[in-house]
Amino acid sequence: MDLPDPQPQGQDVRDRVTSLAKRRGFVWPSFELYGGSAGFYDWGPLGAALKRNVQGQWLRMFVNEEGMLELDSSLINPREVFEASGHIAEFTDLLVDCLGKCKASFRADHLAEGHHPNPDTLDAAQVDALLAEKGVVCPECGGPLGKARPFNLMFQTRVGPGEGREGYLRPETAQGIFINFPHLYRLGRERLPFGVVQLGRAFRNEISPRQGVLRLREFNMAEAEVFFHPRERDWTGDIANYRDLELALVPRDGKERRMTIGAAIDEGVMHNRAVAYFVGLTARFLASVGIDPARLRFRQHLQTEMAHYASDCWDAEALTSFGWVELVGVADRGDYDLSRHQERAGLDLTVFVQYDEPRELDIERLAPVHKMLGPRFKGEAKAVAEALKAADSTAIRADGSARVVVQGAKGHKSMVTVPAECFKLERVKEKLTGERVLPHVVEPSFGIDRIVWCVLEHSYTERAGEGGEVLTVLRLPAAMAPVTAAVLPLVNKDGIDELAMRLDAELKAAGLRTAYDGSGSIGRRYARADEAGVPFSVTVDYQTKEDQTVTIRWRDTSEQVRVPAAHLPGSLRQLAEAD
Ligand code: GAP
Repeated sequence: MDLPDPQPQGQDVRDRVTSLAKRRGFVWPSFELYGGSAGFYDWGPLGAALKRNVQGQWLRMFVNEEGMLELDSSLINPREVFEASGHIAEFTDLLVDCLGKCKASFRADHLAEGHHPNPDTLDAAQVDALLAEKGVVCPECGGPLGKARPFNLMFQTRVGPGEGREGYLRPETAQGIFINFPHLYRLGRERLPFGVVQLGRAFRNEISPRQGVLRLREFNMAEAEVFFHPRERDWTGDIANYRDLELALVPRDGKERRMTIGAAIDEGVMHNRAVAYFVGLTARFLASVGIDPARLRFRQHLQTEMAHYASDCWDAEALTSFGWVELVGVADRGDYDLSRHQERAGLDLTVFVQYDEPRELDIERLAPVHKMLGPRFKGEAKAVAEALKAADSTAIRADGSARVVVQGAKGHKSMVTVPAECFKLERVKEKLTGERVLPHVVEPSFGIDRIVWCVLEHSYTERAGEGGEVLTVLRLPAAMAPVTAAVLPLVNKDGIDELAMRLDAELKAAGLRTAYDGSGSIGRRYARADEAGVPFSVTVDYQTKEDQTVTIRWRDTSEQVRVPAAHLPGSLRQLAEAD
């Protein structure tokens, strides 16, 4: 697409998109009537429709094309859920309080910005040392700063009257999927791999949200939890579809290179085939909703910045006026969540996988060391030994212990942690017709509000009007645009306006999103449609009365064609799909 130079950059784009977003009803700060509250934004009529279209495209790709199941689970969850998931203990950011006059609180990584290349990798002691060494004081009042301390980001509530039961607003949609796993596995026909998605709100009590809709306290997520056999990472979708897709990749060494996904797998830059597949799918999705592929990269998390549950993670990052912004994380969560819920709920979440044909496998079995098991597990030692023999190396945790399902005397099953000294690893060849396994999970997790904001920034362009004024053209992909066509009468007389209104009603009845606009000059109306991202304008004029034809004008090129009005619904749909 040829755009006139120069297009606004950096802070200019941010200011202009912010102003456009408010003026035209995409998005604005919440509670303005009461002075506002940081971290909350409301999506207006155009923004809500754009967001809905982005979510619709996501569902089309994940549910229709990839065949995943959809879940809609509770937003408020009891404490047990987040105790098990690790969010109570680990879902924290480091906070530093001002000990001076203003008593404001700051994110430790914000205070460390400019003093360290990677502030979010620092622990509390490192932050304290760095801030002391650099003499950092309160940015608001210049007062002294306290010690860094963890601050839990979850919103707490009480369920029911009185003391009630302790509850939390969910900080991710994922846990709803894990705690419903037994239902979902049955509904997924008891097969691996299978995927479940959830679209919905998540809540995080961010310490000092400053970047508009990029850091919200209430936001929209779209997540897929894809369950795999622990030794396999091949999704049902064909990785061949993405092997030739070239992307900017930044692996842990920090060096950006453009390479195809196929080459990244072959050269070991991406060693997880499922993560590679969903990186490809994510890139296709983001391009389809209007993220500029030239301003997109995938960056692998450093070991120190990974979430508490992840063993590998690649973020999709878009270049915006705020710099590189994380839009999506594609993480390998292993069996972290299922094993934690299995343990906390005391239920067996393993599944039996029947193989189509017996498989000869090289397996690392856990061989019990009886002299250690006896003293440690006493009366239970025999049952633990049996559980170890049935398990393999996928049961070993990061600290070297193993988690196994032990069958008690009364048939009751429980999860037991067995210290590393109680077993040895033995590599054996086994012919298996099936196996009991705890599935592993790969999770593509999308922040919808951030994506929609970046779509606005990446679609924002300007052109010179006839009088030299600057006009905005929001080049949204036609299928994402909140309004597909503006219906414009050339004049508001001689029955032209009535004809246009009738046409508008017909297009609406045919299921198209249209907007009738009869006020001001035709040039002004084109400009209004352009800045709202409307891809097509349909003009009704005197010739329409004669031969029932109308003109379609393209937003991006101002090109016009005449078509029979009767063909409009089909033509507009085809044009929107082809865009
Ligand atoms: N279940 C995985 C998970 O929650 P995350 O990286 O914490 O992972 C996923 O969040 C995505 O949600 C991020 O890539 C980002 O796009 C979005 N996100 C996270 N925190 C956000 C916030 N405070 N405001 C808006 N979007 C946010």
